[in-house]
Amino acid sequence: MNAPATQPTRPMPHVLNTYGRLPVALSHGRGCWVWDTNGKKYLDGLGGIAVNTLGHAHPKLVPALQEQVATLIHCSNYYEVPLQEQLAAKLCELSGLDGAFFCSTGLEANEAALKLARKFGHDKGIERPEIIVYEKAFHGRSIATLSATGNAKVQAGFGPLVEGFVRVPMNDLAAIEQVARENPNVVAVFLETIQGEGGINPSRWDYLQALRKVCDERDWLLMLDEVQCGIGRTGKWFAHQWAGIRPDVMPLAKGLGSGVPIGAVVVGPKALNIFGPGNHGTTFGGNPLSMRAGVETLRIMEEDGLMENAAQVGAKLMGDLRQAFEGLAGVVEVRGQGLMIGIELDRPCGVILNRAAEAGLMLSVTADRVIRLVPPLILSADEAAQIVAILAPLVRQFLSES
Ligand SMILES: Cc1ncc(COP(=O)(O)O)c(C=O)c1O
Repeated sequence: MNAPATQPTRPMPHVLNTYGRLPVALSHGRGCWVWDTNGKKYLDGLGGIAVNTLGHAHPKLVPALQEQVATLIHCSNYYEVPLQEQLAAKLCELSGLDGAFFCSTGLEANEAALKLARKFGHDKGIERPEIIVYEKAFHGRSIATLSATGNAKVQAGFGPLVEGFVRVPMNDLAAIEQVARENPNVVAVFLETIQGEGGINPSRWDYLQALRKVCDERDWLLMLDEVQCGIGRTGKWFAHQWAGIRPDVMPLAKGLGSGVPIGAVVVGPKALNIFGPGNHGTTFGGNPLSMRAGVETLRIMEEDGLMENAAQVGAKLMGDLRQAFEGLAGVVEVRGQGLMIGIELDRPCGVILNRAAEAGLMLSVTADRVIRLVPPLILSADEAAQIVAILAPLVRQFLSES
């Protein structure tokens, strides 16, 4: 395939410098592969940071989106949008929850969750509601979501932070019980089922079950941020389903639209009637193009068994990585679920991102020392083997020299 001639080869000088970018401009993709403007080919182990569920230029998604673009891209939420009903119904069917609000990004979905929690508190007479949040959490970069985030680097320079958060360590039930005893204003617990940016840190399933119980007993909302780990990535539609529980509020985004910007907050009965007309809104959220992308993504995932694929190929990839790094000093752990995998090293390893790109593999390094793989859910067993074949020698080389 030829690259479109209009692609820039370097970041444009007018774009603000918010990312440490590689000097690589991508021109096009197909399946789990992308090409840069020089014609170099890469295996996509990053999926646009857990976004490209169906890979690139999926033959079932492309015609559906083309048809939608030629029909109706955007109207406004002043009118009924039947595709919103369709996507909400599907998300409710898959999650066992009861309603959805649509927006365009993960942070927006989380903002909606935080507003739901506060209003839930106000509605029951708590004037200064507090929300339990977590160390190492990442919920976005708006002022409220970065305040909920447990990473000083993300917060630095943006104070004063939003108040009303109490922070606890992950998987520590005693910490929750202590907050419950000491703080009558708590209204919700807000966490990622599997932390993504924090280094691929899974909640223990028994911890989630215990949290569900505490939230029921205390009349708190259990709010699970599945922006990164949801939509089939772990081998279940939503990662918390491994624990056999349901949240009251579940923000989604990333993989739901296979690359078309979309966010959603899906809610159960306890949160269904917290918002009324005028309480929340967004111009772009729920527009026909993004809704069609969501509907088609879920349809194609079901039709092609992609959740099952994520479970199977993910297990193989994790197993092969564990084998490749077994006994290798410097590799702390290979962990995750399905196609959400982290390889923790004992030292900062940001340079692996550059070296992998040079070797034709896209991935990211998060929390300084965790190599993250979140590829498209269409990844084949053969492509998984190619990831290991590229990555294993790179990691060995890196550890031997640093
Ligand atoms: C768990 C989680 N929540 C929220 C966000 C923020 O999403 P967005 O970048 O779409 O605002 C992210 C992004 O990485 C995330 O991983």
